[in-house]
Amino acid sequence: MSGFDPDWLSLREPADRAARAGRLIAMAAQDLAAAGTPVVCDLGAGTGASVRAFAPVFPDATRWVLVDDSADCLARATALGPHVEVRQADLVQTARPWPEDCALVTATALFDLASASWIDRLVDGLAAARLPLLSCLTYDGVLDLAPPHADDGAIRQAFNAHQRGDKGLGGPACGPDAQGVLIRALTARGYTVETADSPWVLSAPADGALIGQTLAGVANAAAETGQVDPARAEVWRAARASRVPSVVVGHQDLYARPPSRA
Ligand SMILES: C[S@@+](CC[C@H](N)C(=O)[O-])C[C@H]1O[C@@H](n2cnc3c(N)ncnc32)[C@H](O)[C@@H]1O
Repeated sequence: MSGFDPDWLSLREPADRAARAGRLIAMAAQDLAAAGTPVVCDLGAGTGASVRAFAPVFPDATRWVLVDDSADCLARATALGPHVEVRQADLVQTARPWPEDCALVTATALFDLASASWIDRLVDGLAAARLPLLSCLTYDGVLDLAPPHADDGAIRQAFNAHQRGDKGLGGPACGPDAQGVLIRALTARGYTVETADSPWVLSAPADGALIGQTLAGVANAAAETGQVDPARAEVWRAARASRVPSVVVGHQDLYARPPSRA
């Protein structure tokens, strides 16, 4: 059980949408256009944000299969329409969760939660089915705040250590290393991989709610590691909240084509 709050996913969705690498989404859309009535499978789909982000660019006839283990999140995705099927499943138990006629696998904000062995097993399955992969918003360890604060480095280091804990996807997560692990797994199987930066670039007051929740989440995670005293983490969070900082959170996107499609 992964325990993601659907309200948190809704809060981050506009920033995610602005950050996604349009060039890679357009490449995937172009490949899908050749597939007639393509079926796209979104892993760790949450409330269906990927459908909302990609549908304006993907072929009109696209059908979707959304896979997630959270009934709460998927309940919100069911409203997307008859072209969207939701499947509640644990991606650890289900090695190849896409349907037979799948034309593209997508995932957003998922791979940094996953262990290297889970990624390897997934890419094995993709390669066996010769499926392309569009991955968006994999956290890459960048957390830049302005104006600077003396504890930024210590908090970032502890937060990134927390990101390497077990997040329910096959053991200790790759965290900030996930994009590199994914690229190595894909290229080792002959995939051609295109990458792009997709950072959140947030500033108050417009992004105030997302900044506030992000800083609270970062401070909590940093304190949970034991590397930073909880009181010090709270002082950092409160100082940041009152200074209305701008925040850059680094992410990476990729689009990978299997050998026959490269
Ligand atoms: C960071 S959220 C991203 C959700 C969605 N892709 C989005 O962009 O809004 C990660 C998602 O992966 C799902 N997830 C995490 N571990 C999972 C697992 N073992 N099996 C199935 N889904 C999982 C969570 O329930 C959550 O919806």
